[in-house]
Amino acid sequence: MPTPINLDDVTRAADRLRAGGIVASPTETVYGLGADALSPAAVNKVFALKGRPATNPLIVHVTGPEMALRVAASWPRRAELLADAFWPGPLTLVVPRRDDLPPAITAGGATVAVRSPDHPTAMALLFAFGGPLVGPSANKSGFISPTTAHHVRDAFLERDVLTLDGGPCSAGIESTVVLLTEPRVRILRPGLIGASDLAAVLREPVDLPGPAPSTAELLQSPGLLESHYAPSTQSFRFTARQAPSVAALARRARIAVIAHQELESLADLDSATLLPLPPLPRLYAARLYETLREADARGLEAIFILMPDTNDPNDPNPPASPTSAPASTADAHIWAAIADRLTRATRPFLAP
Ligand code: TXA
Ligand code: MG
Repeated sequence: MPTPINLDDVTRAADRLRAGGIVASPTETVYGLGADALSPAAVNKVFALKGRPATNPLIVHVTGPEMALRVAASWPRRAELLADAFWPGPLTLVVPRRDDLPPAITAGGATVAVRSPDHPTAMALLFAFGGPLVGPSANKSGFISPTTAHHVRDAFLERDVLTLDGGPCSAGIESTVVLLTEPRVRILRPGLIGASDLAAVLREPVDLPGPAPSTAELLQSPGLLESHYAPSTQSFRFTARQAPSVAALARRARIAVIAHQELESLADLDSATLLPLPPLPRLYAARLYETLREADARGLEAIFILMPDTNDPNDPNPPASPTSAPASTADAHIWAAIADRLTRATRPFLAP
């Protein structure tokens, strides 16, 4: 349950936004860094605070399709159908942008990404401010997204960012981003809403991101390029087959092992080494970033993360041997979204 909204805080935050300031707000996915989307100065401040490359566009938070038209040039039929079905919710729609939008938001591109967050505090802030707010994750560029107010306050000075505390985020990984401006609909960033959920509403096929993004895809969504969601400690992903090698390493080196399966070879690791995650993908996603931060804070030599098994034919990094029974079809795309984040946060462990 999210913490109840404090309307005094929201009013003060909306004032801060009107004065060109920055407000971090919880959403159901991760905390976002809000600023007036129609103010070039406020938008530039967000890029500067995050240390975000100017080539990586920001998403924009809106209360719904009507407010989306303050940044979007048109509201295609596909956007109407998807917003009807999934907003407010963890789905970002990439649509044509309006010409009067600060160009920095879209990194000079012709499209804008919009989403209506499913969180009472984020919505109250949007209504109190009365206009679209940029909504990138409230972390320094490349680092792990924040899932608590505490994470945001760790990264930014109170003077620069007013943080609204809405408790821990329920979803825990960033929204699905879907491109709607091309002949075929394509997911640019996987998330809790999967291709088959979108296809069922649109009644047309929805493409997944390829194993390696094409040049065209990178130009469209430069966020795909960077290493992301990464702890400061060097981090490796491993498969169940490699678990004995990881366990052997844990006896010699100061490492943390993050795993969602009770593997025999990891059974005798002490609780200071082994950080468990739930074997169910929604619960895993909700806990992932907090757990990565916890491991990172220990100042160890390395972090090792057991890769989930995925059923996804487009999985960029299929495990050499399954770590579990295949996930149920309904949740396979969530494991794929988790695998996407882990692949960006880690390097493969090369031991047998
Ligand atoms: O769940 C979320 O989406 C969170 C919460 C706070 O709403 N926000 C978030 O924003 O993750 P950000 O900026 O960290 O990630 C947005 C992603 C980036 O990978 C960016 O490259 C992509 O969306 N993106 C933004 N605008 C785009 C556009 N016009 N076309 C294609 N991709 C875009
Ligand atoms: Mg981000």
